[in-house]
Amino acid sequence: MVVATSNAGKVREIEEALGGLGWEVQGLSGLPLPEETGSTYAENAALKACAAAMMTGLPALADDSGLEVDALGGEPGVYSARFGNRNSDLERNLYLLEKLRGTRDRRAKFVSVIVLAYPDGDLEEYRGEVRGILLEGPRGQGGFGYDPLFVPDGERRSMAELSVPEKRAVGHRGQALAALLAAHRPGA
Ligand code: IMP
Repeated sequence: MVVATSNAGKVREIEEALGGLGWEVQGLSGLPLPEETGSTYAENAALKACAAAMMTGLPALADDSGLEVDALGGEPGVYSARFGNRNSDLERNLYLLEKLRGTRDRRAKFVSVIVLAYPDGDLEEYRGEVRGILLEGPRGQGGFGYDPLFVPDGERRSMAELSVPEKRAVGHRGQALAALLAAHRPGA
């Protein structure tokens, strides 16, 4: 299976989760991915997965995901990777902290939609989400994106302080991947 992303953090999490499925998982290196022109996670995930399945002739999986902040009316959402037109995770995190300065409502959720596309055109879609709160400053070295600012409900540590299996157990992508795994379990 090809994973249609150039995000090393996503590849790491997806490989770790699907290791037991008996499929060989590869990142999509060097091949161009289409622009994310959709207005929903599902549209963008399907765009990426279909393009990769057509280019490689292999089943292709794509994740589209984002952070939805209650106090910002659900922003940045599908535009999380481009938030504030900032170019790096660090700059986007600082931009988010600046937008939330003085805001007491720190609630947010991560959402992931995973699409598995087959070369014959078949599509499967899985969704996961996790609610939590946003810190006033970054904590932890793991994960990627907004992980250092996000503490999942029921946890004391930020997502960036969790190991990959721990993040999978509580996280949005882990939930979507668990649904995919359940659908592909023998006899499912
Ligand atoms: P896209 O799915 O490639 O459009 O990018 C999603 C963006 O949402 C990432 O670049 C991150 O900024 C953010 N994001 C998605 N999932 C996570 C996560 O697991 N941790 C932290 N940030 C995430």
